[in-house]
Amino acid sequence: MDLRTPQTANDPVRTPVRRLNSEAPWDAFDPAAYVDHNYGSLRSDDAKILEIVRKHFADHFRDSPDHGGERLRGIDVGAGANLYPALSMLPWCGEITLFETSTANVAYLNDQRVSYDPHWDQFWAALCEQDVYARRVADPRADFRRAVTVERGNLFDLRRRPAGWQIGTMFFVAESMSTSEAEFFLAVERFMEALAPGAPFAAAFMEGSLGYKVGEHSFPACSVSAADVRKSLSPFAEGEEVAITPIGMPGGALREGYEGMIVACGRRGSE
Ligand SMILES: C[S@@+](CC[C@H](N)C(=O)[O-])C[C@H]1O[C@@H](n2cnc3c(N)ncnc32)[C@H](O)[C@@H]1O
Repeated sequence: MDLRTPQTANDPVRTPVRRLNSEAPWDAFDPAAYVDHNYGSLRSDDAKILEIVRKHFADHFRDSPDHGGERLRGIDVGAGANLYPALSMLPWCGEITLFETSTANVAYLNDQRVSYDPHWDQFWAALCEQDVYARRVADPRADFRRAVTVERGNLFDLRRRPAGWQIGTMFFVAESMSTSEAEFFLAVERFMEALAPGAPFAAAFMEGSLGYKVGEHSFPACSVSAADVRKSLSPFAEGEEVAITPIGMPGGALREGYEGMIVACGRRGSE
């Protein structure tokens, strides 16, 4: 028996029909609507994520002083219309690849690369609560422009690239690109395979997501739990260790149809 109200039953966001990654309208993703809804101002959940991620990277490089002065190659997979994962890697990177499939998001990222919009300053200020950020980056806009390259591609093809990004992020992508659990696990695998042994990584996930709307279009999601996130990442992590932090919904829900957010941090293991 379907106990949902007719309105709910007809809502494409709440009724997950099977939709593979290749079937969603990624080129019609509306970055302006997405940024406006998600990142126009700094929400409590993103502030919590930034706190966890900045500490993870700062601790990693404090404990690995050999890499402290080196400029690394970083990647943000499925960067979309979010700059803060890339900003979180900026102090340690000479190059950052923003890897993204949607032509609309690629155009947004290329535009932001030149001089990013002022609302991203709040996100940078939150990162600077870890003093290494301000210490190593005097002018984040200039460093971002210098370091960032935007690359259009399909993350499932990342395995054909020589492994080697030395730091990486993937935020709200593996679970927010398909209804298929197999594609969720494969996307995480491809992300981890793209990283060099020992590379620190941070990933974020929507928990229990039923899909989402951006502008006029709906996009698929796979409902994952903290246990799924651990299962997907640990086989590729150093010592199979991944710090998983469910952060719930501090400050209230961003939208309908999800149960919280999950942050996962660790280091890539050796082959
Ligand atoms: C929910 S958005 C997340 C965007 C951003 N990372 C964030 O934190 O808000 C999912 C992103 O994954 C991208 N994406 C979907 N399928 C992809 C694929 N096969 N390869 C690379 N990117 C993909 C989408 O275009 C979109 O930008």
